[in-house]
Amino acid sequence: MTANFLSVKAAFSAPVGSELTLRGWVRSRRDSKGVTFIELNDGSRFKSMQLVVDAGTIPDETLKQITTGSSLAATGTLVESPAKGQAVELKVATIHIYGGADPQTYPLQKKGHTLEFLREISHLRVRSNTFGAAFRLRNALTHAIHMFFQEREFIYVHTPIVTTSDCEGAGQMFAVSTLNMHQPPRTDDGKIDWQKDFFGKPAFLTVSGQLEGEIFALAFSKVYTFGPTFRAENSNTPRHLAEFWMVEPEMAFYEIEDNMRLAEDFLKYTIRYVLEHCREDLEFFNQFIEKSVLATLEHVAQSDFGHITYTDAVSELQKSGKTWEFPVTWGCDLQTEHERFLSEEIFKKPVIVTDYPKDIKAFYMRVNDDGKTVRAMDVLVPRVGEIIGGSQREERHDVLTQRLHDSGLDEKPYWWYLDLRRYGSVPHAGFGLGLERMMMYLTGLKNIRDVIPFPRTPGNAEF
Ligand code: 4AD
Ligand code: MG
Repeated sequence: MTANFLSVKAAFSAPVGSELTLRGWVRSRRDSKGVTFIELNDGSRFKSMQLVVDAGTIPDETLKQITTGSSLAATGTLVESPAKGQAVELKVATIHIYGGADPQTYPLQKKGHTLEFLREISHLRVRSNTFGAAFRLRNALTHAIHMFFQEREFIYVHTPIVTTSDCEGAGQMFAVSTLNMHQPPRTDDGKIDWQKDFFGKPAFLTVSGQLEGEIFALAFSKVYTFGPTFRAENSNTPRHLAEFWMVEPEMAFYEIEDNMRLAEDFLKYTIRYVLEHCREDLEFFNQFIEKSVLATLEHVAQSDFGHITYTDAVSELQKSGKTWEFPVTWGCDLQTEHERFLSEEIFKKPVIVTDYPKDIKAFYMRVNDDGKTVRAMDVLVPRVGEIIGGSQREERHDVLTQRLHDSGLDEKPYWWYLDLRRYGSVPHAGFGLGLERMMMYLTGLKNIRDVIPFPRTPGNAEF
């Protein structure tokens, strides 16, 4: 074989008349008089390449093995397609079969599988239209995130996955231990002897890279971390995962206003990027998953985000006349129904809620002069609710120590975090974007399990 190996995507822009070889998986096969049409997809783009095989070109033995799901290499000539639907197609000279797929058992036979069913076959769902589009989009989004920060002189820092500090102070961490769970070593008073564990003390999977991010911000000025984070919260909802990806910028010398501006610029930049680079995939979501996706994204890329304080948001919710599953009073945490109402009904666009009560937010948020609220900012978007959580950080040593105490946290494991407030402390701020929440917003997919390759949720860690 002397022909060029090309991706299907590249083949669509190759000159007519090119001799080339395409490799991939058969999406469908259709026989009509004297000719067989094969849709070949290799994941490089949404659209498959049509292969045209004239009767007698390839042996019957080969033709028989070309079924949905089988894998092959096809060599031939790129020709203008007489049919509508595609500009070019491959007129096949030879075909090599790599692997067959038994039509009796291959699960992706016909269209119309539910997303729930496809979730059970995560090893094969990636070959479907929906998941092909989703994971190409996820790739582009990730690329746009790095581009945004790299273009603005942010340093990318790899914060640890295994940690001994609880960033959110919420105690929702997975333990990492090599102790024998059935017979752990014990101290004289009968407690588990953590000194004998791998790290010499209790260790966990991180819930956020923020605290270590702050260390780097106070040396490199503008940094971001981007990686998997873990939460052992037992919430079986369409918006929560036990393992999810978070991008967290952290900036020295930024106050809450600077932080909000960055978050807005950041979201708009990534939206514009995918609108420009993932049109075909987004059009699929717009047509088959959520009719408002394209219009919403185009609108958001143009318009300013709304702003409201928590206190004003609470009065808006109270006077809305709606009956809430979770009643609203000052001091309560906002639930998804409240977040969605604010962004969908009141603002009709993304809105940033600021100045939450300190008692419902993490210890590291800067306390306002009223002594009751903190410089928190949550970005809420229609359909999804909270997509970003962030804040200006408490940079005053005495106030931070007090906040740790008031939150019932032991200050000992946070000794280095407090040190940052003793040596060259500066105002600083940052936020975290949940990558999968952003994916839900971009695709219109309503279950977070469908925008991550292998979802981990209570009771499920298959694959
Ligand atoms: O609001 P969160 O808990 O904030 C933090 O972790 C801060 N340390 C971030 C920072 O300031 N550097 O989480 C941030 C975002 C949420 O807004 C949400 O998008 C996402 O992470 N998130 C989850 N996504 C999926 N599953 C979960 N269980 C999530 N918990 C939070
Ligand atoms: Mg939050």
